[in-house]
Amino acid sequence: MRGSSRLRRLAPPPRAVDWAILVAVASAVATGLLAWTGWLPPALLVDLHGVVGLTIAGLLVFKFARVARRVLDRGQWDRATPISVLLGIVAVAALVSGVFWGVGGNVPIGPWTTLNAHVGLGLLAIPILLVHLRARLRLPSRTDASRRSALRIGGLLVAGTLVWRLSEAVTAVRGVTIRDTGSKPTGELYDTETEGGSFPVTSWVADDPEPIDRAEWTLTVAGLDGDGGEMAYGDLLAAAGDERRATLDCTSGWYTIQNWEGVRVGDLLDEAGVDTGTEEARWVRFVSVTGYRWSLPVAEAREALLSTAIDGSRLAHGHGGPARLVAPERRGFQWVKWVERVELRRDPDPAQWAVTLVSGFD
Ligand code: HEM
Repeated sequence: MRGSSRLRRLAPPPRAVDWAILVAVASAVATGLLAWTGWLPPALLVDLHGVVGLTIAGLLVFKFARVARRVLDRGQWDRATPISVLLGIVAVAALVSGVFWGVGGNVPIGPWTTLNAHVGLGLLAIPILLVHLRARLRLPSRTDASRRSALRIGGLLVAGTLVWRLSEAVTAVRGVTIRDTGSKPTGELYDTETEGGSFPVTSWVADDPEPIDRAEWTLTVAGLDGDGGEMAYGDLLAAAGDERRATLDCTSGWYTIQNWEGVRVGDLLDEAGVDTGTEEARWVRFVSVTGYRWSLPVAEAREALLSTAIDGSRLAHGHGGPARLVAPERRGFQWVKWVERVELRRDPDPAQWAVTLVSGFD
């Protein structure tokens, strides 16, 4: 009892706490998504995400102390209270799963890692928060925006930063190697779930085609004005002679470093007679047999690899055989599997984000 009244005395004003939570949740979602999808280089984002997440934890302690009586006394409930309670549960679960993954933990649920659970819970909190705001949003008053509130919320931010540094030290001591994207080495997560390589077979949403008959398969290489041509599997193997040691970093939360072998995409385009030297030739799009696709700026695409093998072994079906894109420094979901078409484009392809969610569905 004495503890909770001390907590109340230390707390910034209610509206200041609520608005700080709102800003912090928006920042956590933005930094988390940008780092996880690889939209922006994750190095700084991941620190910001961790600090903001831990600051939310501190803010929620004050918030829960304030509303505890309202929630525990059913007589004080109104129509919006169940949603608030659900939000509390989802927010705490998102925070706990994030910290647990960050210090090296993982409790997989089917094919989903704890990182997937953390991302899912964080995204689930957004619509619930919007409903909560609809019922409860109040504008801050002048006293809410005082020097005292700023100092207290600043103090929480400093505490969040210190705990973040501490959690990084814990992971370092435990020998867990987490990349800035949040991914861990496969060996720490999976023992068996692999096919033709020492890393798991995963696909973004619904892509799961039948194994491809290499004797029937052809690769179309298309330029802007009808130039280009078709290649059989044997032609592609004959052209293959390049190698990249590159990190496949999957959004499920694992990474693997492999020696990928195949054809440099620049050589593939040149050999097919596709002219990438004009001002109009800006993007190269890689299209899978499932319709899944991704595009890279032409200079980056030329240095990427269309891989047919790993360490001398033919690329297995699950890993995208006959041929998959290897785009170093990009996230795994951009390394298109089962490529059947490589095409030069004038424009980027914004619809590719939507296609990653729906390709593979009949
Ligand atoms: C993850 C974020 C949040 C969680 C987990 C959360 C949770 C809760 C809970 C459990 C209650 C008590 C039940 C009720 O009165 O409905 C509550 C009340 C309330 N919340 Fe939130 N909330 C969050 C974010 C926000 C934000 C961003 C705002 C406004 C900017 C806000 C404003 C309010 C208000 C005004 C109340 C009424 C109670 C009071 O003022 O003491 N909440 N919230």
